Amino acid sequence: MKKGFIFDLDGVIVDTAKYHFLAWQNLASSLGISFSEEQNEQLKGVSRVRSLEKILEWGNTSISQEEFNRLMTEKNEEYLVYISKMDATEILQGVPEVLNYLKLKEQGIALGSASKNARIILEKVHLQNMFDVIVDGTNVSKAKPDPEVFVNGAQELNISPKDCIVFEDSVAGIQAANAADMISIGIGDATILHEADYIFNDFTEIKEEFINQLITTIK
Ligand code: BG6
Ligand code: MG
Repeated sequence: MKKGFIFDLDGVIVDTAKYHFLAWQNLASSLGISFSEEQNEQLKGVSRVRSLEKILEWGNTSISQEEFNRLMTEKNEEYLVYISKMDATEILQGVPEVLNYLKLKEQGIALGSASKNARIILEKVHLQNMFDVIVDGTNVSKAKPDPEVFVNGAQELNISPKDCIVFEDSVAGIQAANAADMISIGIGDATILHEADYIFNDFTEIKEEFINQLITTIK
């Protein structure tokens, strides 16, 4: 059976979550706003605009639209410096093996990311050809936890949402996958991602038997 496997990018395929954190932390501190790892957890999977809105809310700070735009640009420029140095060594452990196995099994493979930088990152790590479909921040209007990004991915794969499986490292992304009626697989901390159908620390824990089970199970 052909299923759709939809991968988030940041924190799932590559370890870019740390770069987003560094750039947001610098931005928050330039505004005199404290920014913790716990707050950062709430920004994972969330769009750039919504992330800045949340940081300003936490800091009880209001700024003009012009300043808002300037800060977003500045944050992204810093982030782009980090990602310009990326190469295939930053692909997270176990990811190539899972992607190769899915290809071997002729499954649908999609990217479902909130990032507008997704294509640049995939090119940097030479993974752009692994995906049949790429849905990213440039072609969605509603941020996770809205299911739009994954629903669009399923549609472009031409596979029904209930036959799709989502890999996510963020709470917002797991909620989006659940709302899309897909199987949600959390990659990371089980206490944070407890709403997921399955949780693994990383892709090295995902064995071929488990993937076979996902391919054959009817939801
Ligand atoms: C998500 C990240 O994948 O993309 C978020 O988890 C980030 O932290 C969002 O804010 C948007 O990314 P970008 O690259 O368009 O700023
Ligand atoms: Mg992510």
